[in-house]
Amino acid sequence: MGKIELEMSTHSRYHGGSMTPLQKKRAAFAPPVPDILENLCEVSFSRGEDTSAIGDWKEIKTHFPNTFARPVLHLVRGGEKHTSQKVRVGVVLSGGQAAGGHNVITGLFDGLRRLHPDSLLIGFLGGHSGIINERYRELTEHYLSPYRNQGGFDMLGSDRTKMEAPQHLQKALDVIQKLQLDGLVIIGGDDSNTNAAVLAEYCIRKGCAVRVVGIPKTIDGDLKSYPLLACPFGFHSACQTYSEMIGNISRDMLSARKYTHFVKLMGRSASHVTLECALQTHPNLALIGEEIIEKRQTLNEITSQIADLIERRGNEGKSYSIILIPEGVIEFIPEIKGLIDELNMLLAQEKDEKSLSMTSKRVFDLLPQKIQTQLLLDRDPHGNVQVSHIQTEELISTIVKEKLNNRPSFKGTFNAIHHFFGYEGRSGFPTNFDSAYCYALGHGAALLIDGGYSGYMSCVQHLKKNPREWAICALPITSLMHLETRKGKVKPVICKTLVNLDGYPFKYFKDERVKWAYGDHYLYPGPIQFEGDPSYSECVPKSL
Ligand code: FBP
Repeated sequence: MGKIELEMSTHSRYHGGSMTPLQKKRAAFAPPVPDILENLCEVSFSRGEDTSAIGDWKEIKTHFPNTFARPVLHLVRGGEKHTSQKVRVGVVLSGGQAAGGHNVITGLFDGLRRLHPDSLLIGFLGGHSGIINERYRELTEHYLSPYRNQGGFDMLGSDRTKMEAPQHLQKALDVIQKLQLDGLVIIGGDDSNTNAAVLAEYCIRKGCAVRVVGIPKTIDGDLKSYPLLACPFGFHSACQTYSEMIGNISRDMLSARKYTHFVKLMGRSASHVTLECALQTHPNLALIGEEIIEKRQTLNEITSQIADLIERRGNEGKSYSIILIPEGVIEFIPEIKGLIDELNMLLAQEKDEKSLSMTSKRVFDLLPQKIQTQLLLDRDPHGNVQVSHIQTEELISTIVKEKLNNRPSFKGTFNAIHHFFGYEGRSGFPTNFDSAYCYALGHGAALLIDGGYSGYMSCVQHLKKNPREWAICALPITSLMHLETRKGKVKPVICKTLVNLDGYPFKYFKDERVKWAYGDHYLYPGPIQFEGDPSYSECVPKSL
């Protein structure tokens, strides 16, 4: 094995810095481990059901001839007792932050060391660009220990580099070979796991035996595949944080009785975060993007619905309300979706809004100038609209205000306050659930590398049960793919899972929401708890 150049420029905030008592306490916490992981030398992956793709399988197969249609894997006891080889593994954190990422790395580190005490873990710095630019450092127990059970991605940093161009893939392969890596673990959302699948395929095609393994991360909650992948990590911690804040605002609102709060919540496309927070806090109204698109509701209809709610409450002496708005809702409102699709195409061709069709131009011209500018902002490297920068909550409340001003029947008052709960939910201390989940995911990745599996995503099943009963399994990443137009080109990517309108969580919400709209049924979940009554310290997402 060759010598590793260590990137020493990035120093941990903890090394030489100080920690709060809670940080120290969490760093010392040992997450519960599934029973199946008790003895790593006595487990192996067994072949499960065969897979295809979510859609367009023939086309996906042509892109991934070596990694397509592999079986699901289930970790089982027994099989041949084996001795593991010492391995060298790289790890990268990718995309938006999500609480628990550090625990995937500590779980991976501990798993690798339990399989072979001399195995080595290297962390790439600053996301995928750290691979391409050869920025990395060795991860030792001394370096890792203060990050155990802590939020954020600051141990290594992150980015949104798309691993697609041939020169990037070749550079990544060169670095993998230079560092003599046996495995590479990519911790990310749908786009980062698409990167992982592309790189896994490329390496096999080039005759490199490195095992590329993905880890399902995103607070958005849209990286799912029932029943093996019920929810990505980070979703629970983010929703707990937002729900605490929504509960606090509801109580403030109920005390002062003079504001209508418009709360935009993160979640780029799907409305999972908003649905989960609604289930936890019982707001007066929560928009669900998937329902809007199903009913083909226009912006006019949505804002009229909100104005109706505020009018009725105001006329009943309740000039206060709390309304949850998923940040991705803008892309679900049919006329704006059409506009965004056209803008995406034009921006990919380096044209601007002047080339819009008549229909989209009309929609564009009706929007306030601030929103027009926000819609024209650069797409992220994967071609996604940066919805976190679009002030949808202000757009909606401005239109609602106009409507209320024109309603002589409205007897209440309307004072809007806007909030955006996004970044503050991504890097807090992971909940006990996310801490244990991530630690198990890291172990799963170590076992996949040990077993020689590439192009797989580490998964944990039965998340509603006690962590000791969780099962470890793995999904071929290509099984989650379909074709999508990104930056004007049709590409194989992981398909985002949207809120299932026939699923129990949404149906429950639908049954309850009229009661929540006019009564004051707010719930106050309070801050994340790490100890005490398991009904709050060991809770799991309600939408599970
Ligand atoms: P991932 O899909 O990478 O997990 O990121 C999701 C997210 O947190 C969205 O909810 C949000 O719209 C976006 O990232 C914000 O991106 P950025 O951190 O680049 O501003």
